[in-house]
Amino acid sequence: MSYKLALFASGSGSNAENIINYFSGSSKVECPIIVSNKADAFVHQRARKLGIPSFSFTAAEFRSGEAILHLLEEYKIDFIVLAGFLLKVSAPLLAAYPDKIINIHPALLPNYGGKGMYGHFVHEAVVAAGETESGITIHYVNEHYDEGAIIYQARCMVEPGDTPEMVAQKVHQLEYEHFPRVIESVVTKD
Ligand code: GRF
Repeated sequence: MSYKLALFASGSGSNAENIINYFSGSSKVECPIIVSNKADAFVHQRARKLGIPSFSFTAAEFRSGEAILHLLEEYKIDFIVLAGFLLKVSAPLLAAYPDKIINIHPALLPNYGGKGMYGHFVHEAVVAAGETESGITIHYVNEHYDEGAIIYQARCMVEPGDTPEMVAQKVHQLEYEHFPRVIESVVTKD
């Protein structure tokens, strides 16, 4: 049996591409579709290059969930992976995929999480606070931003003089190194 992941992304999609490449030879896990809330997100160009169908839905469609659930059912999706997805996951989607939606956050939750804490805002806050470390948090998704049960965290040093962009680079490296492997361990554990 192979587990089918839907990757949700709102922007560039470098994590989505990394995940697809990681599972490209796998017989246990496959990534048949990419879903976005932005029709012009660069992730669609990555999907085209990778030969993966990608779909875009409006915020209202994500809130109601109906059209998206129909698509996920059509592709027999087992798990949803948020790889840079900026909308809150609506109740219908949470109900359809209990403990089967995971997210990656570019900081060490519970710090530097919640509404509005994404991308460069996170790294700017970490640097402004004078933190000596940052990192990634992979967690289950619930009805609140960045508050689901934590699955895995990895850390990096924040050196004096590091800019938010330098921290972002270190955090992205942790994402690429750990996210696919953690997804694999969660998805195949049942
Ligand atoms: C990543 O930093 C991830 O931690 C956060 O959104 C960013 C997505 O980057 N959730 P990309 O679109 O995968 O390049």
